[in-house]
Amino acid sequence: MIVVFGSINMDLVATVRAIPRPGETVLSPGYRTLFGGKGANQAVAAARVHDGRVAMVGRIGRDGFGEACRANLAANGVTVEPLVADDAPTGCAFITVDSRGENAITVASGANGNVAAVDLPEALLGPDTMAVMQMEVPLAASLAAARRVKAAGGSVVWNFAPAPSAIAAEDLAALLAHTDIFVVNELEARAAATLLEAAADDWDAAACTVARLGHTTCVVTAGAAGAVSYAPDGSRLHAAALPVTPVDTTGAGDTFVGILAAEMVAHGHLAVALRRACIGASLACVAEGAQTAMPTRTALVAADTAPD
Ligand code: RIB
Repeated sequence: MIVVFGSINMDLVATVRAIPRPGETVLSPGYRTLFGGKGANQAVAAARVHDGRVAMVGRIGRDGFGEACRANLAANGVTVEPLVADDAPTGCAFITVDSRGENAITVASGANGNVAAVDLPEALLGPDTMAVMQMEVPLAASLAAARRVKAAGGSVVWNFAPAPSAIAAEDLAALLAHTDIFVVNELEARAAATLLEAAADDWDAAACTVARLGHTTCVVTAGAAGAVSYAPDGSRLHAAALPVTPVDTTGAGDTFVGILAAEMVAHGHLAVALRRACIGASLACVAEGAQTAMPTRTALVAADTAPD
């Protein structure tokens, strides 16, 4: 079973010619209201390709956005019974997307800021549990939840996004100690190495260092360059992205994480999981919105032409 412990947002998305600089105002013809939140995106990405159960643990407000987010998760086959209704409003992300498909995001956390480790029901814990964490709910809650997952014999995929500008060294050490696969982009890899007070010239060196010091597998997503995994002993695997023309890269990293977790639960082969996660993330970039273009299992397998 996959258990995503994390954030749920409604995304308000405006397309602009260029993302505004500080102090600048730009005009957009309108905006779209789309489902998002790193946690919810990862749960939907996993559920679209996974045969087994995917559960979402998180908080929504007692408002229209919250009910719509709950219904969307359920419609995508995600178990929503663990969701907690909170007094704070549902999380909301303000997203601008430019003509190259790049984005800038501001997240108003709302109910996500009240997520607690007790929200994770004991019934979801066991040796078959693969928990998926990110950095949009309180770190203390995610850490306590990860400890419970590991104590029950389960495993943890931790997406270090968005990378915090500051985190106590002991917290990052504890995070890595309770993580089986640590997923970062190039910037987050360097941020993690810096937080570990390790010198690294580039993201490759940074990821290598994080894997070695953290005694965990570190996976770096590198956009059009695909993804690389680093084992603590320094060995690496590379997987390629599909050549697509991106419309909106929002949620591509979340698609990668959700599919990686689903594939690891399904068969446990990191090389195949990495390859399929890259393919899924590429496919997710060809339409506006985080969840719109996430592939189904059929679409994912059809796009994967490599032999296992
Ligand atoms: O990773 C993309 C997500 O980040 C968006 O859906 C937005 O909600 C923010 O959480």
